[in-house]
Amino acid sequence: MEVLARCHTLAGFSEIAEGICRTFLCDAMHECHREIEGWLAPLAIRSRIDAAGNLCITYPALEADAPRLFIGSHLDTVPNAGAYDGILGVVLAIALLEALEGRRLPFAVEVIGFSEEEGIRFGTPFLGSRALVGSLDEPLLSKKDARGISMRQAIENFGLKSAEIPQAAMGPDVLGYLEVHIEQGPVLESLGHPLGIVEVIVGQSRLEVTFEGHANHAGTTPMNLRRDAVAAAAEWISAVENHAKYTADLMATVGAIQVKPGTGNVIAGEVRLSLDVRHRLDEARMTAVEYLLREAEEIATRRGGGFRWNLLLEQRSTPMNPLLVNEVARAVSQAGCEPYRMVSGAGHDAMIIAAKVPAAMLFLRTPGGVSHDPAETVAVGDIAKAVEAGCHLLEQLADSAEFLKRIQHA
Ligand code: HGY
Ligand code: MN
Ligand code: MN
Repeated sequence: MEVLARCHTLAGFSEIAEGICRTFLCDAMHECHREIEGWLAPLAIRSRIDAAGNLCITYPALEADAPRLFIGSHLDTVPNAGAYDGILGVVLAIALLEALEGRRLPFAVEVIGFSEEEGIRFGTPFLGSRALVGSLDEPLLSKKDARGISMRQAIENFGLKSAEIPQAAMGPDVLGYLEVHIEQGPVLESLGHPLGIVEVIVGQSRLEVTFEGHANHAGTTPMNLRRDAVAAAAEWISAVENHAKYTADLMATVGAIQVKPGTGNVIAGEVRLSLDVRHRLDEARMTAVEYLLREAEEIATRRGGGFRWNLLLEQRSTPMNPLLVNEVARAVSQAGCEPYRMVSGAGHDAMIIAAKVPAAMLFLRTPGGVSHDPAETVAVGDIAKAVEAGCHLLEQLADSAEFLKRIQHA
């Protein structure tokens, strides 16, 4: 199937020799854009790269000044990624354009390949979709990556003009946004459903937490005289896991650890950790973050060390637009699938775009429930069902373009 093959082709554009890694405006993203633009030639449709590095493909409407429907996802990846997270949504959206076979709709369709959703290079996610809603602001543009390159400079290095970021913001003519994405979890597979409809995307808090100890000699420092930052961090990591295990619907993860000086015969003086906390209820998430920070403070103080933290991301739980969700559910039924409604534990660009226009998401089953890993996969039959449902959705929305205007002002 063409969609699967195209995802594999894009997986070949990586900034690392072994495995897939394509972060914000890396060189491999140029190759990714060129490959996709090559697919568009037979469709005779134009594409452009906006000042935030988003690939924007416009499929014209019947009328020149018709409104636009956005369909998109992200083209960046986590390190050592799978081939489908984000990418499948862009490739599948192009398949929907091809399925139209030149037929024009009462609205234009704009396929968007966002430049950065994962937040790997600058520690802040959703950079591409933030540009579309006009929130890629100066503090963000001044952030520096691990090599000391600012986001603004990275944009210029990619051949774009950071001064044009404001022009990347969407206009008032956007009717809605649809994102097709792999579930990245085990739910649809456990229920035997090929497709799912997202009702809400859980909120997330991302923090950087640092434990300060006292670097010293591993062989001469008695155990009772140590201020071991790794031991403090390890105690806290267990507390994080236990708290999430015994708090309903809470996910809390320490995924990254940096130890200084990080050698076997030196007691660590400093440990920097990531903390990712998610819950569908914002109140519950914030309470959990406050509790875990208090725990860290208590552990550090008891051990005679220090503790500090900074907030990288605070993203509220985001409900999808009920009217558009109903239309996606109807389209899934039309494709002969159970219209299973669900929560998304993963964050998506839809969370950001939903602040401006009605948004909805269509999930595809993730065999094995594995994602953010090369083992990530998707079934050909499910892709076919998703294309079928996507075609039904476009028909439904075309039949009631008035509907789109209604949800825009709902
Ligand atoms: O981390 C997430 O939730 C998404 O995959 N970026
Ligand atoms: Mn991801
Ligand atoms: Mn994703």
